[in-house]
Amino acid sequence: MDINKIYVIGVGQMGSGIAQVAAQSGFEVTMYDQTEAIVKKGYDRVAGNLEKLVAKGKLEKAAADETVKRIKTSVALGDAKDADLVIEAIYENPAAKKAIYAELIKVIKPETILASNTSSISITELAASTDRPDRFIGMHFFNPVPVMKLLEIITGYLTSDATLTVAKAIGEKMGKVGVAALDKPGFIVNRILIPMLNEAILLLEEGVASAEDIDKATVNGCGHPMGPLHLTDLVGLDVTLAIMEVLHREFGDSKYRPSPLLKKMVAAGKLGCKTKEGFFKY
Ligand code: CAA
Ligand code: NAD
Repeated sequence: MDINKIYVIGVGQMGSGIAQVAAQSGFEVTMYDQTEAIVKKGYDRVAGNLEKLVAKGKLEKAAADETVKRIKTSVALGDAKDADLVIEAIYENPAAKKAIYAELIKVIKPETILASNTSSISITELAASTDRPDRFIGMHFFNPVPVMKLLEIITGYLTSDATLTVAKAIGEKMGKVGVAALDKPGFIVNRILIPMLNEAILLLEEGVASAEDIDKATVNGCGHPMGPLHLTDLVGLDVTLAIMEVLHREFGDSKYRPSPLLKKMVAAGKLGCKTKEGFFKY
């Protein structure tokens, strides 16, 4: 199946990155979110990123202009009617995701593939809420999308081989390194990474070291590009907590218990970079 038009639902930090990379890779992209103001913010983030690439000499001005021309914006799901692929990147909340799919399947073409960028929610469960579990797949991009090379491709119980082949081809066209994973909580990276972030928060909570020193330790001791607390701020404390809760609930193993400090900070609205404060201030 030829994929030309991609409709991205939810253009926060992940959706806007996905839209940018898709448009730079030659796809016609539409960016959808809840309000004009949110869509504009996502669109401006993409335009700003492209301008920075031009200023650094990493992208021709003409290519940036062509990329921008390939991006449309939308606040009406009806605009997804001619999309070949929809990539959903809204909040990590199964009920919210299913509610969007319920509206979406009323307007999209029968052959349209539906992908979720979920970090941890079961692809099989999300797929089952739609009319097309065979044409539903996990396309899990990494943050920041324009920089991180990986694309995890997660097949649900009923995802067809044809859908997997299309998702792999799209990832390749976007210049991503694709890895396939089965539908188990956390897939590959988050099963490893998110418990490590949670453990760093437990260390802070126990007073073992300061936030600065915890981060300094893994940057200098393990060669990580950024420390776990800074990375939690980048990912979003809400997203990190949502993933830990899925791991804890689905595996039923107390080793995945979310840190009480993480829960408290989310309740207090300290979500990290996106709210200008998490473990550090931005
Ligand atoms: N959008 C676009 N480009 C960005 C960017 C963004 N949001 N953030 C950084 N960049 C670019 C910068 O412009 C810079 O580009 P140049 O090399 O062309 O100048 C480059 O990335 C490096 O950035 P900086 O020099 O500002 O800073 P840095 O060297 O510390 O790199 C980083 C920043 C790329 C984020 C790096 O620290 C890093 O790789 N951190 C780890 C990120 C990571 O682990 N991501 C995965 C999170 S988990 C996940 O995504 C899955 C999930 O479900 C939660
Ligand atoms: P974010 O909070 O930055 O953005 C979420 C966007 O979804 C917001 O713009 C919000 O307005 C929009 N939204 C929420 N409900 C909506 C609805 N009903 N209709 C339309 N738009 C709606 O979140 P994010 O970090 O970009 O995460 C989005 C998804 O990507 C989540 O499933 C998350 O688990 C996953 N993810 C996040 C990361 C990360 O590092 N943050 C990495 C990989 C995957």
